[in-house]
Amino acid sequence: MNETKKNERVEEVFGLFLKHMKTFLKEANLNHEEYTNFVNWADRLGRSGELPLYADVFLETHVLQAMYTDKPGTQPSLLGPFFIEGSPYLENTPGKPIVNTMRADEPGETLYFSGRVQNLKGQPLANTKVELWHNDNSRKYSSFDSDAPPYNLRGHFYTDKNGDFEVKTIAPIPYSIPTEGPTGEFLEYMDQHSMRPAHLHLMFEAEGYETLITQVFFEGDPWLENDVAEGVREELVTTLHDKGGHKEAELAFEMRPE
Ligand SMILES: [Fe+2]
Repeated sequence: MNETKKNERVEEVFGLFLKHMKTFLKEANLNHEEYTNFVNWADRLGRSGELPLYADVFLETHVLQAMYTDKPGTQPSLLGPFFIEGSPYLENTPGKPIVNTMRADEPGETLYFSGRVQNLKGQPLANTKVELWHNDNSRKYSSFDSDAPPYNLRGHFYTDKNGDFEVKTIAPIPYSIPTEGPTGEFLEYMDQHSMRPAHLHLMFEAEGYETLITQVFFEGDPWLENDVAEGVREELVTTLHDKGGHKEAELAFEMRPE
């Protein structure tokens, strides 16, 4: 027999889960057929490989809100299922904090996005590692279902001495989460659309600070109010300025001490 490894946290969390589950079962008046249907669907979900997708779309935002809603600093938003490790390092343009994530022929509208990273006292955080990833103009992510080369529209870079960075990329567009599998089946049961508003994914890492994983959204997006993943936070919405030929947007980010 394997050596048993008691994990008190698992015991504590499962105990709480059962406690609240009992109240929930009473209120939902769940019958055995519904339970069996749920188990079969969850089994299909797991086998299809969509469990991370389902969890990131329907649960992750609630975990984050429970953790952060009342805390100072920039609100996190979901990491989501489309992050991958090992993105290329993007070097700043000499003399300017501009990095470029685009191919020469990248379809889409050029966006210059600039950010400032600071701590809760408003002091700039120089040399913060910034990781950026977002979908392309086919509404898909590289290294997943897009035809673009791996790591397209993905990269990491560092803030300058003022905590600033600037990225030349394309303006992301709204996309649908995958709907062909058990996640789509769930959306149909709920009579719920599958769209997310356009967003940039960003992750910030600085020594002595809690890693900040968040997203940036844009005013006027038709899906802002009803994001399928409920990832939008008011302070993460910025303005997309039309500069005739390209777009510009900016946002400041505040990191919490560890
Ligand atoms: Fe996304």
